[in-house]
Amino acid sequence: MAKVLVSGAGGYIGIPLCRKILEQGHELIALDRYFFGKQRLADIEANPKAKVVVDDIRSFDPGLLKGVEIVLDLAGLSNDASAEIDPQLTQSINCDGGRRLARIAKEAGVRRYIYSSSASVYGNGVQDQLKETDECRPLTLYAESKLRVEEELAKLNGSGFEPVIFRTSTVFGLAPRMRFDLAINVMTLRAWKERVVYIMGGGQQWRPFIHVNDVVRAFVMATEQPAEKVSGQTFNLGSDDMVFQIGQLAQFVLDVIPNVTVHRIPDDTDKRSYNVSFTKIRDQLGFISQTRVHEGVVEIKQALERGTIESDSPTQYTLQWYRSLLDWEARIKELSLNGKVL
Ligand SMILES: NC(=O)c1ccc[n+]([C@@H]2O[C@H](COP(=O)([O-])OP(=O)(O)OC[C@H]3O[C@@H](n4cnc5c(N)ncnc54)[C@H](O)[C@@H]3O)[C@@H](O)[C@H]2O)c1
Repeated sequence: MAKVLVSGAGGYIGIPLCRKILEQGHELIALDRYFFGKQRLADIEANPKAKVVVDDIRSFDPGLLKGVEIVLDLAGLSNDASAEIDPQLTQSINCDGGRRLARIAKEAGVRRYIYSSSASVYGNGVQDQLKETDECRPLTLYAESKLRVEEELAKLNGSGFEPVIFRTSTVFGLAPRMRFDLAINVMTLRAWKERVVYIMGGGQQWRPFIHVNDVVRAFVMATEQPAEKVSGQTFNLGSDDMVFQIGQLAQFVLDVIPNVTVHRIPDDTDKRSYNVSFTKIRDQLGFISQTRVHEGVVEIKQALERGTIESDSPTQYTLQWYRSLLDWEARIKELSLNGKVL
Protein backbone atom coordinates (compact mmCIF):
# COMPACT_ATOMS: atom_id res chain seq x y z
CA MET A 1 0.00 0.00 0.00
CA ALA A 2 1.24 3.46 -0.86
CA LYS A 3 1.22 6.91 0.68
CA VAL A 4 -0.94 9.01 -1.64
CA LEU A 5 -1.47 12.77 -1.79
CA VAL A 6 -4.62 14.13 -3.44
CA SER A 7 -4.68 17.89 -4.07
CA GLY A 8 -8.10 19.43 -4.64
CA ALA A 9 -9.33 16.77 -2.21
CA GLY A 10 -12.41 18.75 -1.16
CA GLY A 11 -13.78 19.12 -4.68
CA TYR A 12 -16.46 17.45 -6.79
CA ILE A 13 -14.09 14.71 -7.99
CA GLY A 14 -11.71 14.98 -5.01
CA ILE A 15 -14.02 13.68 -2.26
CA PRO A 16 -15.12 10.45 -4.03
CA LEU A 17 -11.53 9.92 -5.17
CA CYS A 18 -10.20 10.25 -1.60
CA ARG A 19 -12.80 7.76 -0.38
CA LYS A 20 -11.76 5.27 -3.07
CA ILE A 21 -8.05 5.70 -2.27
CA LEU A 22 -8.80 4.86 1.37
CA GLU A 23 -10.98 1.90 0.33
CA GLN A 24 -7.97 0.58 -1.60
CA GLY A 25 -6.06 0.55 1.70
CA HIS A 26 -3.70 3.43 0.93
CA GLU A 27 -2.53 6.10 3.34
CA LEU A 28 -3.98 9.47 2.27
CA ILE A 29 -3.02 13.12 2.52
CA ALA A 30 -6.05 15.17 1.47
CA LEU A 31 -4.68 18.61 0.58
CA ASP A 32 -6.95 21.51 -0.33
CA ARG A 33 -7.77 25.10 0.54
CA TYR A 34 -11.32 23.77 1.00
CA PHE A 35 -12.85 26.80 -0.67
CA PHE A 36 -16.15 24.88 -0.81
CA GLY A 37 -16.01 23.78 2.83
CA LYS A 38 -14.51 20.87 4.73
CA GLN A 39 -17.66 19.52 6.40
CA ARG A 40 -18.30 16.95 3.65
CA LEU A 41 -15.02 15.19 4.49
CA ALA A 42 -16.04 14.20 8.03
CA ASP A 43 -15.76 10.46 7.21
CA ILE A 44 -12.32 10.98 5.66
CA GLU A 45 -11.09 13.03 8.65
CA ALA A 46 -12.26 10.25 10.97
CA ASN A 47 -10.20 7.63 9.11
CA PRO A 48 -6.90 6.95 10.91
CA LYS A 49 -5.18 6.39 7.55
CA ALA A 50 -6.08 9.91 6.36
CA LYS A 51 -4.65 13.31 7.11
CA VAL A 52 -6.72 16.32 6.01
CA VAL A 53 -4.45 19.28 5.35
CA VAL A 54 -5.74 22.81 4.78
CA ASP A 55 -3.11 24.44 2.62
CA ASP A 56 -2.38 25.95 -0.76
CA ILE A 57 -0.62 24.22 -3.66
CA ARG A 58 1.25 27.51 -4.25
CA SER A 59 2.92 27.62 -0.86
CA PHE A 60 2.59 24.44 1.23
CA ASP A 61 5.71 23.04 2.88
CA PRO A 62 7.31 20.47 0.53
CA GLY A 63 8.06 18.41 3.68
CA LEU A 64 4.44 17.21 3.40
CA LEU A 65 5.52 15.13 0.40
CA LYS A 66 8.04 13.12 2.41
CA GLY A 67 7.45 9.41 1.74
CA VAL A 68 4.62 10.11 -0.73
CA GLU A 69 4.73 7.72 -3.71
CA ILE A 70 1.69 8.86 -5.67
CA VAL A 71 0.22 12.34 -6.24
CA LEU A 72 -3.15 12.99 -7.90
CA ASP A 73 -3.40 16.69 -8.73
CA LEU A 74 -6.96 18.02 -8.97
CA ALA A 75 -6.49 21.43 -7.35
CA GLY A 76 -7.30 24.70 -9.03
CA LEU A 77 -9.92 26.93 -10.59
CA SER A 78 -11.93 24.16 -12.18
CA ASN A 79 -13.77 25.62 -15.13
CA ASP A 80 -13.34 28.04 -17.99
CA ALA A 81 -15.57 30.74 -16.50
CA SER A 82 -13.88 30.80 -13.06
CA ALA A 83 -10.47 31.08 -14.70
CA GLU A 84 -11.62 34.27 -16.48
CA ILE A 85 -12.43 36.15 -13.22
CA ASP A 86 -8.86 37.31 -12.78
CA PRO A 87 -6.10 36.24 -15.21
CA GLN A 88 -3.39 36.80 -12.56
CA LEU A 89 -5.16 34.48 -10.16
CA THR A 90 -5.44 31.81 -12.86
CA GLN A 91 -1.75 32.21 -13.66
CA SER A 92 -0.87 31.97 -9.99
CA ILE A 93 -3.10 29.00 -9.03
CA ASN A 94 -3.55 26.92 -12.18
CA CYS A 95 -0.22 27.54 -13.94
CA ASP A 96 2.36 28.43 -11.27
CA GLY A 97 0.71 26.36 -8.53
CA GLY A 98 0.21 23.35 -10.81
CA ARG A 99 3.80 23.47 -12.06
CA ARG A 100 5.19 23.99 -8.54
CA LEU A 101 3.36 20.95 -7.22
CA ALA A 102 4.76 18.79 -10.01
CA ARG A 103 8.32 20.08 -9.49
CA ILE A 104 8.41 19.66 -5.71
CA ALA A 105 6.80 16.23 -6.05
CA LYS A 106 9.60 15.08 -8.32
CA GLU A 107 12.22 16.60 -5.98
CA ALA A 108 10.62 14.76 -3.04
CA GLY A 109 10.88 11.43 -4.88
CA VAL A 110 7.22 10.97 -5.83
CA ARG A 111 7.05 8.19 -8.43
CA ARG A 112 3.58 8.35 -10.06
CA TYR A 113 2.00 11.78 -10.73
CA ILE A 114 -1.53 11.92 -12.15
CA TYR A 115 -2.74 15.25 -13.45
CA SER A 116 -6.37 16.19 -14.13
CA SER A 117 -6.17 18.17 -17.35
CA SER A 118 -9.22 18.80 -19.50
CA ALA A 119 -10.57 17.99 -22.96
CA SER A 120 -11.19 21.75 -23.03
CA VAL A 121 -7.59 22.07 -24.32
CA TYR A 122 -8.90 21.19 -27.80
CA GLY A 123 -10.95 24.43 -27.83
CA ASN A 124 -12.77 24.67 -31.09
CA GLY A 125 -11.62 21.32 -32.43
CA VAL A 126 -10.09 21.31 -35.90
CA GLN A 127 -11.74 18.00 -36.78
CA ASP A 128 -13.86 15.15 -35.46
CA GLN A 129 -12.39 12.37 -33.34
CA LEU A 130 -9.57 14.45 -31.85
CA LYS A 131 -6.66 12.32 -30.72
CA GLU A 132 -4.08 13.16 -28.04
CA THR A 133 -1.53 13.97 -30.75
CA ASP A 134 -3.83 16.43 -32.57
CA GLU A 135 -3.41 20.17 -32.36
CA CYS A 136 -4.83 21.88 -29.28
CA ARG A 137 -6.48 25.23 -29.88
CA PRO A 138 -7.33 26.48 -26.38
CA LEU A 139 -9.99 29.19 -26.34
CA THR A 140 -9.78 30.09 -22.67
CA LEU A 141 -7.26 30.86 -19.93
CA TYR A 142 -8.42 27.72 -18.18
CA ALA A 143 -7.51 25.52 -21.16
CA GLU A 144 -4.19 27.35 -21.60
CA SER A 145 -3.35 26.82 -17.93
CA LYS A 146 -3.96 23.09 -18.33
CA LEU A 147 -1.58 22.98 -21.32
CA ARG A 148 1.14 24.87 -19.40
CA VAL A 149 1.10 22.22 -16.66
CA GLU A 150 1.05 19.45 -19.28
CA GLU A 151 4.22 21.01 -20.79
CA GLU A 152 5.92 21.11 -17.39
CA LEU A 153 5.09 17.46 -16.81
CA ALA A 154 6.55 16.53 -20.19
CA LYS A 155 9.81 18.24 -19.13
CA LEU A 156 9.86 16.49 -15.74
CA ASN A 157 9.11 13.05 -17.20
CA GLY A 158 11.82 10.46 -16.48
CA SER A 159 14.46 9.67 -13.83
CA GLY A 160 11.90 7.76 -11.77
CA PHE A 161 9.14 10.37 -12.16
CA GLU A 162 6.08 8.97 -14.00
CA PRO A 163 3.58 11.65 -15.00
CA VAL A 164 0.19 10.62 -16.41
CA ILE A 165 -2.10 13.23 -17.93
CA PHE A 166 -5.85 12.80 -18.24
CA ARG A 167 -7.72 15.16 -20.53
CA THR A 168 -10.96 14.66 -18.69
CA SER A 169 -14.37 14.97 -20.40
CA THR A 170 -17.07 17.14 -18.82
CA VAL A 171 -18.12 15.31 -15.70
CA PHE A 172 -21.67 14.60 -14.50
CA GLY A 173 -23.36 12.73 -11.67
CA LEU A 174 -23.88 12.87 -7.96
CA ALA A 175 -21.06 13.72 -5.54
CA PRO A 176 -20.83 15.31 -2.08
CA ARG A 177 -19.51 18.70 -3.30
CA MET A 178 -22.21 18.87 -5.95
CA ARG A 179 -21.52 21.05 -9.00
CA PHE A 180 -24.56 22.52 -10.70
CA ASP A 181 -22.41 24.45 -13.15
CA LEU A 182 -21.80 21.34 -15.27
CA ALA A 183 -24.04 20.79 -18.31
CA ILE A 184 -25.91 17.58 -17.43
CA ASN A 185 -26.15 18.39 -13.72
CA VAL A 186 -27.58 21.87 -14.26
CA MET A 187 -30.04 20.70 -16.93
CA THR A 188 -31.32 18.05 -14.51
CA LEU A 189 -31.66 20.56 -11.67
CA ARG A 190 -33.55 23.13 -13.78
CA ALA A 191 -35.84 20.48 -15.25
CA TRP A 192 -36.67 19.16 -11.78
CA LYS A 193 -37.00 22.51 -10.06
CA GLU A 194 -38.30 24.88 -12.74
CA ARG A 195 -39.61 22.49 -15.44
CA VAL A 196 -37.30 24.19 -17.93
CA VAL A 197 -34.19 23.10 -19.82
CA TYR A 198 -31.99 25.68 -21.51
CA ILE A 199 -29.87 24.69 -24.51
CA MET A 200 -27.15 27.29 -24.85
CA GLY A 201 -25.33 28.30 -28.03
CA GLY A 202 -27.73 26.58 -30.44
CA GLY A 203 -26.97 23.06 -29.19
CA GLN A 204 -24.75 21.95 -32.08
CA GLN A 205 -21.50 22.01 -30.03
CA TRP A 206 -19.83 18.64 -29.45
CA ARG A 207 -18.68 17.66 -25.97
CA PRO A 208 -17.58 14.39 -24.38
CA PHE A 209 -19.10 13.42 -21.01
CA ILE A 210 -18.09 11.10 -18.19
CA HIS A 211 -19.64 10.11 -14.88
CA VAL A 212 -17.74 11.18 -11.75
CA ASN A 213 -17.41 7.54 -10.59
CA ASP A 214 -15.80 6.61 -13.92
CA VAL A 215 -13.29 9.46 -13.48
CA VAL A 216 -12.43 8.09 -10.03
CA ARG A 217 -12.06 4.57 -11.49
CA ALA A 218 -9.70 5.82 -14.20
CA PHE A 219 -7.56 7.79 -11.73
CA VAL A 220 -7.25 4.80 -9.40
CA MET A 221 -6.45 2.59 -12.41
CA ALA A 222 -3.63 4.98 -13.31
CA THR A 223 -2.09 4.55 -9.86
CA GLU A 224 -1.87 0.79 -10.49
CA GLN A 225 -0.66 0.52 -14.09
CA PRO A 226 2.93 -0.47 -14.90
CA ALA A 227 5.13 2.48 -15.87
CA GLU A 228 5.59 1.28 -19.46
CA LYS A 229 1.85 1.65 -20.07
CA VAL A 230 1.26 5.10 -18.64
CA SER A 231 4.42 6.99 -17.79
CA GLY A 232 4.76 10.20 -19.80
CA GLN A 233 1.44 9.49 -21.52
CA THR A 234 -1.57 11.71 -22.17
CA PHE A 235 -5.02 10.11 -22.36
CA ASN A 236 -8.35 11.58 -23.38
CA LEU A 237 -10.55 10.41 -20.51
CA GLY A 238 -14.00 9.28 -21.58
CA SER A 239 -15.65 6.89 -24.03
CA ASP A 240 -16.52 7.13 -27.72
CA ASP A 241 -20.20 6.40 -27.03
CA MET A 242 -20.46 9.35 -24.62
CA VAL A 243 -19.73 12.19 -27.05
CA PHE A 244 -22.83 14.30 -27.67
CA GLN A 245 -24.03 17.58 -29.06
CA ILE A 246 -25.34 19.83 -26.28
CA GLY A 247 -28.81 19.76 -27.88
CA GLN A 248 -28.94 15.96 -27.50
CA LEU A 249 -28.48 16.21 -23.73
CA ALA A 250 -31.92 17.74 -23.25
CA GLN A 251 -33.53 14.51 -24.46
CA PHE A 252 -31.71 12.46 -21.80
CA VAL A 253 -33.15 14.77 -19.16
CA LEU A 254 -36.65 14.77 -20.70
CA ASP A 255 -36.66 10.96 -20.72
CA VAL A 256 -36.36 11.04 -16.91
CA ILE A 257 -38.21 14.28 -16.09
CA PRO A 258 -41.16 14.76 -18.48
CA ASN A 259 -43.36 17.84 -19.00
CA VAL A 260 -40.42 20.17 -19.29
CA THR A 261 -40.15 23.11 -21.69
CA VAL A 262 -36.97 23.29 -23.75
CA HIS A 263 -35.60 26.77 -24.52
CA ARG A 264 -32.90 27.16 -27.14
CA ILE A 265 -30.71 30.20 -26.46
CA PRO A 266 -28.93 30.81 -29.79
CA ASP A 267 -25.89 32.72 -28.53
CA ASP A 268 -23.38 31.77 -25.87
CA THR A 269 -20.02 33.25 -24.92
CA ASP A 270 -18.76 29.66 -24.61
CA LYS A 271 -17.62 28.73 -28.14
CA ARG A 272 -15.96 25.42 -27.26
CA SER A 273 -16.82 22.44 -29.43
CA TYR A 274 -14.72 19.30 -29.50
CA ASN A 275 -15.45 15.80 -30.66
CA VAL A 276 -12.84 13.64 -29.01
CA SER A 277 -11.55 10.12 -29.68
CA PHE A 278 -11.13 7.72 -26.75
CA THR A 279 -9.46 4.93 -28.70
CA LYS A 280 -6.12 5.26 -26.89
CA ILE A 281 -7.45 4.86 -23.35
CA ARG A 282 -9.66 1.95 -24.47
CA ASP A 283 -6.91 0.11 -26.35
CA GLN A 284 -4.01 0.86 -24.01
CA LEU A 285 -5.72 0.69 -20.60
CA GLY A 286 -8.95 -1.15 -21.42
CA PHE A 287 -10.93 1.77 -20.03
CA ILE A 288 -14.58 2.18 -21.04
CA SER A 289 -17.12 4.34 -19.20
CA GLN A 290 -19.62 2.31 -17.22
CA THR A 291 -22.21 4.86 -16.16
CA ARG A 292 -24.55 6.33 -18.79
CA VAL A 293 -25.99 9.85 -18.85
CA HIS A 294 -29.44 8.44 -18.11
CA GLU A 295 -28.21 6.95 -14.81
CA GLY A 296 -26.59 10.23 -13.80
CA VAL A 297 -29.82 12.14 -14.41
CA VAL A 298 -31.83 9.56 -12.42
CA GLU A 299 -29.50 9.62 -9.40
CA ILE A 300 -29.49 13.43 -9.24
CA LYS A 301 -33.28 13.59 -9.56
CA GLN A 302 -33.69 10.99 -6.80
CA ALA A 303 -31.25 12.82 -4.50
CA LEU A 304 -33.16 16.07 -5.07
CA GLU A 305 -36.48 14.35 -4.34
CA ARG A 306 -35.16 12.77 -1.15
CA GLY A 307 -33.52 16.02 -0.09
CA THR A 308 -30.11 14.35 0.27
CA ILE A 309 -28.58 17.15 -1.80
CA GLU A 310 -29.49 20.79 -1.63
CA SER A 311 -30.87 22.44 -4.73
CA ASP A 312 -29.72 25.95 -3.96
CA SER A 313 -26.45 25.97 -2.02
CA PRO A 314 -24.17 28.78 -3.27
CA THR A 315 -21.14 26.45 -3.14
CA GLN A 316 -22.67 24.36 -5.95
CA TYR A 317 -21.93 27.11 -8.48
CA THR A 318 -18.17 27.35 -8.89
CA LEU A 319 -17.93 30.70 -10.67
CA GLN A 320 -20.43 32.50 -8.44
CA TRP A 321 -18.84 31.09 -5.29
CA TYR A 322 -15.33 32.26 -6.22
CA ARG A 323 -16.77 35.68 -7.12
CA SER A 324 -18.48 35.86 -3.70
CA LEU A 325 -15.23 34.98 -1.91
CA LEU A 326 -13.42 37.80 -3.71
CA ASP A 327 -16.30 40.25 -2.97
CA TRP A 328 -16.25 39.38 0.72
CA GLU A 329 -12.48 39.78 0.83
CA ALA A 330 -12.79 43.27 -0.69
CA ARG A 331 -15.63 44.27 1.68
CA ILE A 332 -13.81 43.01 4.76
CA LYS A 333 -10.70 44.97 3.75
CA GLU A 334 -12.82 48.11 3.23
CA LEU A 335 -14.60 47.81 6.57
CA SER A 336 -11.66 46.70 8.69
CA LEU A 337 -10.18 48.99 11.30
CA ASN A 338 -7.21 47.87 13.39
CA GLY A 339 -7.60 44.42 11.86
CA LYS A 340 -11.26 44.01 12.92
CA VAL A 341 -14.59 44.40 11.13
CA LEU A 342 -16.73 44.97 14.25
N1 LIG B 1 -15.52 18.52 -13.27
C1 LIG B 1 -15.23 18.51 -14.57
O1 LIG B 1 -16.12 18.47 -15.45
C2 LIG B 1 -13.79 18.53 -15.00
C3 LIG B 1 -13.49 18.26 -16.35
C4 LIG B 1 -12.16 18.30 -16.77
C5 LIG B 1 -11.16 18.58 -15.86
N2 LIG B 1 -11.47 18.84 -14.56
C6 LIG B 1 -10.37 19.16 -13.63
O2 LIG B 1 -10.40 18.23 -12.56
C7 LIG B 1 -10.00 18.87 -11.34
C8 LIG B 1 -11.06 18.69 -10.28
O3 LIG B 1 -12.30 19.22 -10.75
P1 LIG B 1 -13.57 19.34 -9.81
O4 LIG B 1 -14.76 19.28 -10.68
O5 LIG B 1 -13.46 18.39 -8.68
O6 LIG B 1 -13.41 20.84 -9.30
P2 LIG B 1 -13.68 21.50 -7.85
O7 LIG B 1 -13.72 22.98 -8.06
O8 LIG B 1 -14.85 20.86 -7.23
O9 LIG B 1 -12.37 21.10 -7.03
C9 LIG B 1 -11.17 21.81 -7.09
C10 LIG B 1 -10.62 21.91 -5.68
O10 LIG B 1 -9.37 22.62 -5.74
C11 LIG B 1 -9.27 23.41 -4.57
N3 LIG B 1 -8.30 24.48 -4.80
C12 LIG B 1 -8.43 25.55 -5.62
N4 LIG B 1 -7.34 26.31 -5.57
C13 LIG B 1 -6.49 25.72 -4.69
C14 LIG B 1 -5.20 26.04 -4.22
N5 LIG B 1 -4.55 27.14 -4.63
N6 LIG B 1 -4.61 25.21 -3.32
C15 LIG B 1 -5.26 24.11 -2.88
N7 LIG B 1 -6.50 23.76 -3.29
C16 LIG B 1 -7.11 24.57 -4.19
C17 LIG B 1 -10.69 23.91 -4.30
O11 LIG B 1 -10.87 24.29 -2.96
C18 LIG B 1 -11.51 22.69 -4.73
O12 LIG B 1 -11.85 21.90 -3.61
C19 LIG B 1 -9.74 20.33 -11.70
O13 LIG B 1 -8.37 20.49 -11.96
C20 LIG B 1 -10.53 20.53 -12.98
O14 LIG B 1 -9.98 21.56 -13.76
C21 LIG B 1 -12.76 18.81 -14.10
